[in-house]
Amino acid sequence: MAGRRKLIVVSNRGPVVHERDASGERVARRGGGGLVTALRSLVEEHDVTWIASAMSAEDKVVAEEAAGEAIPETARNGAPYRLRFVVHDPSEYDWYYNVVANPMLWFIQHYLWGLVSEPDVDQGLHHAWSEGYVPVNRSFADAVVAELEREPEAAVFFHDYHLYVAPRLVRERVPDAVLAHFVHVPWSMPEYWRVLPDPIRRAVHEGLLANDVVSFHTRRWRRNFLRSCEDVLDVEIDWPSHSVHGDGRSVAVRARPISVDPAEFDEIAASPAVEAEEASLAAKRPEHLVLRVDRTDPSKNVVRGFRAYEIYLDAHPEMHGRVQMLALLDPSRQDIPEYAEYLGAIQRAARTVNDRFQREGWVPLDLQIQDNFPQAVAAYKQFDVLLVNAIFDGMNLVAKEAPLVNTRAGVLVLSENAGAHEELGEWALTVNPFDVAGQAQAIHAALTMAEDERRRRLDAIVGHVREHDIGGWIEDQLADLDEARARLGAPA
Ligand code: F6P
Repeated sequence: MAGRRKLIVVSNRGPVVHERDASGERVARRGGGGLVTALRSLVEEHDVTWIASAMSAEDKVVAEEAAGEAIPETARNGAPYRLRFVVHDPSEYDWYYNVVANPMLWFIQHYLWGLVSEPDVDQGLHHAWSEGYVPVNRSFADAVVAELEREPEAAVFFHDYHLYVAPRLVRERVPDAVLAHFVHVPWSMPEYWRVLPDPIRRAVHEGLLANDVVSFHTRRWRRNFLRSCEDVLDVEIDWPSHSVHGDGRSVAVRARPISVDPAEFDEIAASPAVEAEEASLAAKRPEHLVLRVDRTDPSKNVVRGFRAYEIYLDAHPEMHGRVQMLALLDPSRQDIPEYAEYLGAIQRAARTVNDRFQREGWVPLDLQIQDNFPQAVAAYKQFDVLLVNAIFDGMNLVAKEAPLVNTRAGVLVLSENAGAHEELGEWALTVNPFDVAGQAQAIHAALTMAEDERRRRLDAIVGHVREHDIGGWIEDQLADLDEARARLGAPA
């Protein structure tokens, strides 16, 4: 990899969240989510300024004390980096996060709207767009422009669906900036984008095309994006090079599958916290363990997964008392009614299974709703079947993390609509996420598969993930930036 780069990373969630502990001391806790973890090595090895929303009350105090400037932070390996918080008006942030980004954009990008009766694109959505999503993106763009004034040669890395408008706002003010955007969620087919009124869907596409590079986790999402640019903006697509031409500029669209840090997982799996969790799990686990680990997000398809397990139990009374589904679910986005309702549906579906089949000393489905990472990694080590049946998913890192540390030749049952399927599908049991009968059969096939076949598949997944790790993902993106700079004639 070439030497240290000057980079400006921009994402809604930042690498740390500040809080006050019981004694009133300020403490910095690691920010949540896969994105923050994925970008850690970038911070460790390059000159990074990270721009993120101030999430907690204490983040806002930190931002005020810094008079809006970046503060010095220290990465895991001791390397310094800069963190600049953007403080948003609470109402604007609510419209941006709870009305536009989630659910509207998230639901479009995961095909979660049924369209018969929802969504209504009413005044509320228009208002949330113009008074929430756009102003929040403008605040991010202001921060990026200020940082580019300080460091004109830095490249800017935007992340995700919260920031579709910001690149264009930066481009208007800094025409020569080198801008890249990574979209961590699927890109839906062009027709589905027509849920959004024309000015909004145009703004989304034009915003993204203000970048020099736009990247997705899979070739499938890239293809959809290129088609959707053609459809929504009527721009010219160069299919062989996967580029979009328009406005005298060209935008490279790339498929760069995100991954994990295998060494980190090896270390976490051997940590005392995980070993303690594993001992308690091992003491109570049944003969066969079917695991799922997810956020309580409608896109994860938890309810259908429970229904599939119910069908499996119905068909296999010989397994009663010998199998358990363990569902470790991290509560997510509970200020959004669709998410709160989905959590209720998850709880009801789990209750249905247990009411039907439980008996003295056997809980068929153990549902745990909490954020407990050591417990999840302990379960990764212990599963016989890992169920990842997402309706649609940008990548799904559980499908990569869990096999890495599994000790039981566990089988991955994987949705054909999870981004991970493009890489791991050949070694998984593929399921259609809507086909609950098929998922029940896949659970049965996985639990009855010969040990050497299970081992062969698991080893292949582990080999692939070790070879295509997070370091490779970052290198590929830096190479994409070099290519963009060369195209623009800018210094590297
Ligand atoms: O998958 C997209 C993503 O932004 C992840 O990077 C992150 O882990 C997840 O969604 C969580 O979203 P939120 O920031 O809303 O909790």
